[in-house]
Amino acid sequence: MQNLLLALALSAAAEGYVAGSAGWDAAYAKAQIALQKLNQTEKVGLATGVTWEGGPCVGNTYAPESIDYPSLCLQDGPLGIRFANPVTAFPAGINAGATWDRDLLYARGAAMGRESKGLGIHVQLGPASGPLGKNPDGGRNWEGFSVDPYLSGVGMEETIQGMQDSGVQACAKHWLGNEQEHHRETMSSNVGDRATHELYLWPFMNAVKANVASVMCSYNKFNQTWACESDAILNKLLKDELGFKGYVVSDWNAQHTGVNSALAGLDMTMPGSDFNTPRGNIFWDSNLVQAVSNGSVPQSRLDDMVTRILASWYLLGQDQGYPEVTFSSWDGGKATVDVTADHGSLVRTVARDSIVLLKNEDDILPLQEPQILAIIGSDAAVNPDGPNACTDRGCNNGTLAMGWGSGTAEYPYLIDPLSAIKSQAESDGTQIIQSTTDSATAGAEAAAAADTAVVFITSDAGEGYITVEGNAGDRNNLDPWHNGNEVVKAVAAKSDNVIVVVHSVGPIILETILAQPSVKAIVWAGLPGQESGNALVDVLYGSTSPSGKLPYTIAKQFADYGASWTAALDDNFAEDLLVDYRHFDQNGISPRYEFGFGLSYTSFEYSRLAINVAATAGPSNGPVVPGGAEQLFESVGTISVLVQNTGEVPGAEVAQLYIGLPDSAPSTPPKQLRGFDKLLLEPEQSGMATFELTRRDLSYWDVQEQKWIIPAGKFTVYVGSSSRDIRQHGEFSIASS
Ligand SMILES: *[C@@H]1O[C@H](CO)[C@@H](O)[C@H](O)[C@H]1NC(C)=O
Ligand SMILES: *[C@@H]1O[C@H](CO)[C@@H](O)[C@H](O)[C@H]1NC(C)=O
Ligand SMILES: *[C@@H]1O[C@H](CO)[C@@H](O)[C@H](O)[C@H]1NC(C)=O
Ligand SMILES: *[C@@H]1O[C@H](CO)[C@@H](O)[C@H](O)[C@H]1NC(C)=O
Repeated sequence: MQNLLLALALSAAAEGYVAGSAGWDAAYAKAQIALQKLNQTEKVGLATGVTWEGGPCVGNTYAPESIDYPSLCLQDGPLGIRFANPVTAFPAGINAGATWDRDLLYARGAAMGRESKGLGIHVQLGPASGPLGKNPDGGRNWEGFSVDPYLSGVGMEETIQGMQDSGVQACAKHWLGNEQEHHRETMSSNVGDRATHELYLWPFMNAVKANVASVMCSYNKFNQTWACESDAILNKLLKDELGFKGYVVSDWNAQHTGVNSALAGLDMTMPGSDFNTPRGNIFWDSNLVQAVSNGSVPQSRLDDMVTRILASWYLLGQDQGYPEVTFSSWDGGKATVDVTADHGSLVRTVARDSIVLLKNEDDILPLQEPQILAIIGSDAAVNPDGPNACTDRGCNNGTLAMGWGSGTAEYPYLIDPLSAIKSQAESDGTQIIQSTTDSATAGAEAAAAADTAVVFITSDAGEGYITVEGNAGDRNNLDPWHNGNEVVKAVAAKSDNVIVVVHSVGPIILETILAQPSVKAIVWAGLPGQESGNALVDVLYGSTSPSGKLPYTIAKQFADYGASWTAALDDNFAEDLLVDYRHFDQNGISPRYEFGFGLSYTSFEYSRLAINVAATAGPSNGPVVPGGAEQLFESVGTISVLVQNTGEVPGAEVAQLYIGLPDSAPSTPPKQLRGFDKLLLEPEQSGMATFELTRRDLSYWDVQEQKWIIPAGKFTVYVGSSSRDIRQHGEFSIASS
């Protein structure tokens, strides 16, 4: 499989674009020539949406006549293509993150990009690293990869490279501080400079480094100014500090002013009208022509917008025979071509390798041809009304395989756990007893008649324009939905062998479930996409050993996170740097399952930690390249460790590197993820996990100097199987310069 994926990846790369500054320079040169041919109306047309439902895509710009450039098609979203079919419903970002597998992250991005290009989409609106997920109950956390900025950054970089190698422009979103759904269009995220850099901006550095074509500014205010008209975050942070060369597009109706947004660095407004007020309320288009002619927006600013938009199009080679749009979002989305290819097998691999095994007592898993198996819960089977019965997946009926909102796609099909388990049971001669409601009594009855019971529970979330079962996007709590705790309790009272499978957007509190002695296993399957059941069977029956690791912490109680969405109109981000495991570590709180945790059917031993790091203390300087100051990305060496599979079956291990900064750095979380390497190992086989470090990985953001600084002193090295299962310790020192 790995070879097949690499072959796919390489074939995508072969037809790809020229990355790096050289690619941008050539693209800018072409853009500047094209710019000269455009009149003023055409220029603003390239920067303005044609109104909601004004073209086939969720966003469309005006096509000029003076150059050969299309009405640009922008389409959701981060896990596949919305409002079109047939398309592939990929695992959600949070599952891609849970694989901790760079090759799979790349391959998923590349496959999504091929589908977009095949449908004529120029800009796919993803991936997301905002929300980062500092609030465990945040509605859209599942669209991104992890609450840890390093893992999220790798997710962004690999996904964007994959998408753009396939020819589609990626759009990194949502910039910046968009951590909740409640009041998202009115609230202000007030974030300290250091947390802004070390947490929320970090993954976007990777995105810009990967030459992302566009960045979407978010609905919220940042430090009291609308994100889409904030000079501080658009011009200064994104364009000056990170060296972003593409264009900033507004979230849909996130623009509040015409002149201020143009001056602050917004480059494209979407969808070009406000669908909440009468159509025609447009800040740009002819108003932007007027704003330039009356001197409130310089001509050079308009020319810069257009140059950035054109350069991104040239960068991706979209001027060379790009397909026409082959669907309309507004008539059922039926496409005239089928772009799904064999992407289902990639979906299955990503879903399988994202499954996190949390508990496995008495080796109840993998299943060994059980005689009678009870399958319990509405999450075991597809919604009887069909997997796409609710618009934008805005209900939690039937098996949960993606959250709800604009970041969804139509399932071409959805393999549910029940049917996949049934076909395995058929070849094993296992009898299946099913109870696909959430009735505790019916579940207990089914369990009583079986030797093993598998209970399926869920927790859903999504975008705030839809409320599902009382949850207005963000979750009301971290408990299982649909009476999940009571169903598990009732089943556990009647069965000695209970396996709980969780389909969830994020952490849930598991204490009630863990208090039942007959709950022997917990399988964390997240939001697996269209191949849900097949991927689950691969792990439940042990054809593949589980290898996913938690991309967030599971706490013993909600309050332990010290963060949640707020009903107030200001969120002062009081967590500062202490988000997720950083907070648990700093405050000595025991999590139930820590960040980075995940069991396997085999075991791994770590040995021979080797530290080979040398760096000069002090700031990273140099010219700004895409991502930031050039020296930030200079190598400072490697850390490596030998990992051996000491068990009976093949398995993959994610070796993780955490680093603690020296005392000379101002107060910093005890340890932070700064590397990982996933190794697939046969029994007795060993492999070297290698962590490449750059200056950024050893730095903190100094708010006085306004630079990333490597502190002098002793750095602590933690290498292990999770953020708390540290197998090898070490240290290295950097002298003061
Ligand atoms: C600009 O070009 C468009 C064709 O794309 C044309 O319809 C329009 O009249 C031109 N505007 C001016 C002011 O020349
Ligand atoms: C936001 O406000 C905080 C507190 O005043 C400040 O430290 C930070 O630099 C501001 N961020 C931006 C991007 O202006
Ligand atoms: C210039 O035009 C813009 C767009 O119509 C308008 O919002 C702004 O108030 C005008 N400014 C001046 C100084 O006339
Ligand atoms: C979802 O389930 C609820 C509760 O059983 C039911 O009322 C509703 O009709 C279902 N909706 C769909 C679209 O299946």
